[in-house]
Amino acid sequence: MNMFIGRLAALGLAASTLWTGCAFAQTTEVKIAYALARESHYGAAADGWDKYVTETSGGRFTFTHFPSSAQGGEREVIEGLQLGTGVQAVVVSSGALSNFVPEIGVTDIPFLFRDLGHARAVLDGPIGQDILSKFADRQLIALAWGEQGFRHITNNRQPIEKPEDLAGLKIRTMENPVHITAFETAGAAPTPMSWPEVIPALQQGAIDGQENPLSVIVSAKLWEVQKYLTVSGHVYSPAMLIVSPTFWDSLSDEDKKIFADGALKGKEAMRAFVDDSEKNGVETAKQAGMQVNELSDEQKAQFQQAIQAAYEQYYETFTKELIDQIIATK
Ligand code: PAF
Repeated sequence: MNMFIGRLAALGLAASTLWTGCAFAQTTEVKIAYALARESHYGAAADGWDKYVTETSGGRFTFTHFPSSAQGGEREVIEGLQLGTGVQAVVVSSGALSNFVPEIGVTDIPFLFRDLGHARAVLDGPIGQDILSKFADRQLIALAWGEQGFRHITNNRQPIEKPEDLAGLKIRTMENPVHITAFETAGAAPTPMSWPEVIPALQQGAIDGQENPLSVIVSAKLWEVQKYLTVSGHVYSPAMLIVSPTFWDSLSDEDKKIFADGALKGKEAMRAFVDDSEKNGVETAKQAGMQVNELSDEQKAQFQQAIQAAYEQYYETFTKELIDQIIATK
C-alpha cells in the first residue's frame, strides 16, 4: 500500500487516492488563497465554502488554505488562476479585479451605494449577475459576490473632517483606476500598491494612510500602524469567490453545482462577519487606541461634492444609464 501511494506521489499526481475497504475513493485537493487571516471575513468565506463542499461531496474534496497573502498579492493570485498555474480558488476584492474585468469597476464608484442592503440588492439582482457573467470570457469563473463593507480612511497626519484635510495626503489605494481617480479629484496624493506592501510602507512612513473597511481595519489590527480613523464610508467594497477555469472544467456537472452552492454559503458567512464588523468595529478600534471621528451626513455631502468631477469620467466609462439604474435599485 505504502509503495503504491509512493509511486503515485512520484508521478506527481495532485489527487491522492486512498484505499477504503473494497473501493478507491479519490480526494482532490483545492488550494484556496486570500489576503487576510483565517480569522477575518475572508477566512469566514473560505471556511463556509470549504465546509459545504467537503461535507456535500462526502470528503471527495479537501481544502488547503493560504491566508494572509501567502500566495502573493491579489493581482498575482488572479493571474495564477487565469493561467491555471496557481491555486484553484480565491476570495479577492473587487479592487484588484478591475484590471482583469473592467466592468466590475462600476461597483467601486464612491458614494454609489446607500447602505449594505442597497449594495446586496444590486449585486444579487440582474446588474450584479450580469457582471458575474462577464468573468468567463476573461478566464475566471466568478461564482458569488462576497463583500468587505464600506471603506473608511485611516492615517497618521490628522483627523479627516473636510475635503481640504485630504490635500496632499499620501494615501495608499488599491491598484484600482476608479478609486485612484476619486482621490486625485479630491486633492489627495493616491499611492496605489498591493496589500502586502501596505503595513511596511505605513511603518516606514512612506505613506500617511490607507483606506479599508472595518472588517480589514480590525482583522489587520491597523491601530498598530495608524493613529486616526475617519469613518467616511466613502465607498462600498465588494469581494468575489472565484475558481480557475482549468479546475472548473475538470469538474462533473454535479460537482460544479456543489462548488457553486458552496460559494453562496461562503458569501453568506462573509456577509454575516461584515454585519458584525460594521456594528462593533468602531468600538474595537477606539478600545485599541485609535482616535476616531465619524463623518456626519453633511460632512459626507462635502466629500461627495469634492469628487463630483470624477463622476463625469465614470459616466463615460460605465454609462450614466447603468449608474442611474444602480442608484434607483431599491
Ligand atoms: O485594500 C485592499 O487591498 C483590500 O481591501 C484587501 C485588504 C487586500 C482585502 O481584499
